[in-house]
Amino acid sequence: MNNNGLLWRGSWIAVLHATVWASATTAGSPPLPPTTAPISPAQTPPPTTATDAPIDAPGLLNVVAYGPSVWSGSVPVGDAGFATLKAWGVQTVISVDGAAPDLTRANAAGIRYVHLPIGYDGFDDARKLQLVRAVRDLPKPIYIHCHHGKHRSAGAAATIAVSLGWLTTEAALARMKTSGTAPNYAGLYTCTASASLLTAATIDQASPDFPSVTRPNGLVEAMLAIDDTNDRLTAIERAGWKVPADHSDLVPVAEAAALADHLRLLAASPEIAARPTSFRDLLAKSQSIAQRLEDQLSTVPSGDPARLSADMQALQATCKECHASARNQRSAPRDVSATSGAATPPPTAP
Ligand code: HEC
Repeated sequence: MNNNGLLWRGSWIAVLHATVWASATTAGSPPLPPTTAPISPAQTPPPTTATDAPIDAPGLLNVVAYGPSVWSGSVPVGDAGFATLKAWGVQTVISVDGAAPDLTRANAAGIRYVHLPIGYDGFDDARKLQLVRAVRDLPKPIYIHCHHGKHRSAGAAATIAVSLGWLTTEAALARMKTSGTAPNYAGLYTCTASASLLTAATIDQASPDFPSVTRPNGLVEAMLAIDDTNDRLTAIERAGWKVPADHSDLVPVAEAAALADHLRLLAASPEIAARPTSFRDLLAKSQSIAQRLEDQLSTVPSGDPARLSADMQALQATCKECHASARNQRSAPRDVSATSGAATPPPTAP
């Protein structure tokens, strides 16, 4: 829906993290760390499977090992993130996040990027086989990431580890808890719980061609744009509903308007028409709160900060509520041994 939003995300993240990471709440997930840690990448060794707590390194957060030289963690941010990956000898990065990978920095670091996005509700067997094959066949060390490195990358890494016989189901589920995968991501836990050792012949059914960019479907794309504007609005809130000192190009009312717009366009899109009434109602509620923020920020001087913050909180509640009911649980049954369609995976989420 908005390519600028996608492109913008990378450059913004560094700024956002340095300023508001301690308190930003994007759809209930904790934010990423500052990328300006005063240590050099080489000083932070990668975790091993014996490390029982997640580690942070410059440009990376929440890194947990799921196998020999296979790690799960947050999106590598900026030069620092790729410098750390390079210092760890990482050859392949696999993103399971919806956002477009930072191919420029990866190429500059000589690292291959593979983009196989999954949903918060888990993934189907075609995607599972692709992920397992990628980790089995591509050069290691391998770094698997989503956005925060807690839920989706952990679910993918745990399922892969069981499928390749590196971890028992119990150990893999325990690793997900180490990564901090929230219990309400039932679909991700189900993927790991239902995983089993796969034969080479089964894994070979997945295509060996791994895309470096996978275009998100309309809803995911809209959500990524919504998430970007939401992040920027959060930074504006931190600055007392004013232009943040360290990001003077932000226009508060414009960000609220963009958020309201993304939500309105999404609500009017054909794929939303097929969703249940409860889903459309929540989307409408989310949209009307964003609209209210826009209205308050359009006055001069702009509205009462306490009221703006109350609306912002109500808005975040709609994100959470919808995700809990519509995003985080996979309703379709999962057939663990099914391999049909492995060469042509369907869209990431229903
Ligand atoms: C009416 C329901 C609804 C509302 C409201 C909603 N979302 Fe979502 N969101 C979804 C669904 C469904 C998905 C999963 C899409 C998929 O995987 O196909 C999703 C996915 C996402 C994702 C993940 C994109 C990826 O990388 O795959 C982010 C980030 C996100 N939403 C942020 C937000 C934020 C921030 C808000 C509030 C300002 C919000 N959403 C409000 C339904 C909603």
